[in-house]
This record gives sequence, structure tokens and C-alpha cells, in this order.
Amino acid sequence: MKPDRYAVVGNPIGHSLSPRIHALFAAQTNQSMIYEARLGRPGHFAEDVRDWFRTGLRGLNVTVPFKEEAFRLVERRTARAQSAGAVNTVWAEADGTLTGDNTDGTGFLRDLGIRLGLELADRKILILGAGGATRGLLEPLLGEAPARLVVANRTPERAVALVESFAQLAGTTRLESSGLDTIPDGPYDLLINATAAGLGEQGLKLPPGLLAETSLAYDLVYGSASRPFLDWARRQGAGRVTDGLGMLVEQAAESFAAWRGVRPDTTPVLRELRETLATA
Ligand code: ATR
Repeated sequence: MKPDRYAVVGNPIGHSLSPRIHALFAAQTNQSMIYEARLGRPGHFAEDVRDWFRTGLRGLNVTVPFKEEAFRLVERRTARAQSAGAVNTVWAEADGTLTGDNTDGTGFLRDLGIRLGLELADRKILILGAGGATRGLLEPLLGEAPARLVVANRTPERAVALVESFAQLAGTTRLESSGLDTIPDGPYDLLINATAAGLGEQGLKLPPGLLAETSLAYDLVYGSASRPFLDWARRQGAGRVTDGLGMLVEQAAESFAAWRGVRPDTTPVLRELRETLATA
């Protein structure tokens, strides 16, 4: 029997770790599958994806800049894709219906809860950025019932609009927006960098006092791109800092489980990727 075919689409796509991660998952769980990277063509995304599924593709991961386009393309969406307004995982139902899911938020929560052991109930959380990445995290984070959740953005109006659109899900959480220079007083238990900017030369200018020994600073990007933010967070006194590699592996595991019905063990996979990045 031929192996089942899967792919990740993005632009650029050359440096994606997803083929490596899924190959490790497949080997670990004895799944007969091939997973490859495909360069997405702007302006032809929907046409290409439909064509791939028509010709036998079993599942697709979607990354920058196509997650919103994938959301519009699919015919059915899971609840977590609906709230994220973006799709990173696609499969075809038995009748050919394309279904879109979003595993980013769940992946982030699993990395926080399982690997980092951080309980969010009654905690104070600050998210920098009000784009697609933040949108995908708001429902999962609010579901953990933190005491306070602040979305701070360079363009404050975007943070205001985003917070307003999630107000009905806030429950007991004090959900607020702010500009980058008017962030309410810390320290925060969790500070998430979900901006497209690092914190280097022309990086973010943030007020002091946001972090303390009890704080965890989390950058959604991984490897060297996260360095400026994580160095800044350490200098500001954060007790723990981490890049987004754990989230990347967890969201991949969540996609893999949705496609194959088997949940891989992420610990050895994360360890192996970390070793590769360290020697790169
Ligand atoms: P994503 O889907 O990755 O969240 P996005 O929707 O383009 O990408 O959002 C990028 C986020 O990074 C936004 O919050 C953006 O701030 P603005 O809304 O003010 O544009 C933020 N961002 C990008 N470059 C930035 C910079 N140099 N300084 C501060 N914030 C920046």
C-alpha cells in the first residue's frame, strides 16, 4: 500500500521544521505516511489546495501567510478554528468536504501546562501584539480563567477592537487593551510576545516593571529570532523564558492526532529539534 500523503504549505516554506517533526511522529507511531513542504502561490492558494486534495492529499498544514485564506476556503470549521479566525490544519471528510481546524491555541496551552507546568487560573497575563497570532490564543487563554488578561499593541485601536470581539468570552477575567507605552502595572505571571517584531535595535519599547522572578516570558517564534525578546525579558528579571519551539511541536502533535487518531509523544521530538537548533 502506498503511504498516505500530507503536506505543509506556506510562503516562504524552505525552513519549515514541520516535515521533520511529522516524520519523527510517523516513525514513533508506525504510521505509513509521507509529509512534505509545498511553496504556496499567492493568488492561487484555493485552487492549488483543492487540486491537491482532489489528487489524493490526506491532510494539510497551513502556515504564514495563508491561514486566513485557508479559513475562508474550507467548507466546515471546528469551533477552535472559528474562534481563531484562521486555519492551520485541513483534512477531507469521507464525502470530500474540506474541514479546517486550528491547533495553535491548544498546542500553546499544552506546552504551558505539560512542559512548563504553568497553571493560568487567577494569573495575570500580558500579550504583546493584536494580530492573527494573538487572536488564535484569546479563546484558549480565557478558557483557563486568568484573573487579568491585557492585550497591548503598537496600534492601540487594533487591541481595543480585538478585546471587544472577545468580551463575551471573558467570564471572570478582567480583559483589557492598551498601547505599548500605557501597559497596566506588572508584574505579570506570563508575558507572551505575539508581535512580528523582536526586541532588538528598533524593537519594542516597553515600560519597566512588567516582569519578576515569578514570571515566565514566552516568545511565539523559536530559535535565534526569539533571542532579543528573551534576552530583554531576562534583563527585566523574568525567572523563566522560553521560545515557541514547544508550541510548534505541540500544535503539530495535535494536527497529527486529528489526522491519524494517534497521539505521538512530543518530549523526544522536542529534545531532538532542540539539539539540531543548538548545533545549527
Ligand atoms: P500575526 O498573524 O503574526 O499576528 P499580524 O496580523 O501581521 O501577524 O500582526 C503583527 C503584530 O505585530 C501586530 O500586533 C503588529 O502591531 P500593529 O498592529 O501596530 O501593526 C505587531 N508589530 C509588527 N511590527 C512591530 C514593531 N516593529 N513594533 C511593534 N509591534 C509590531
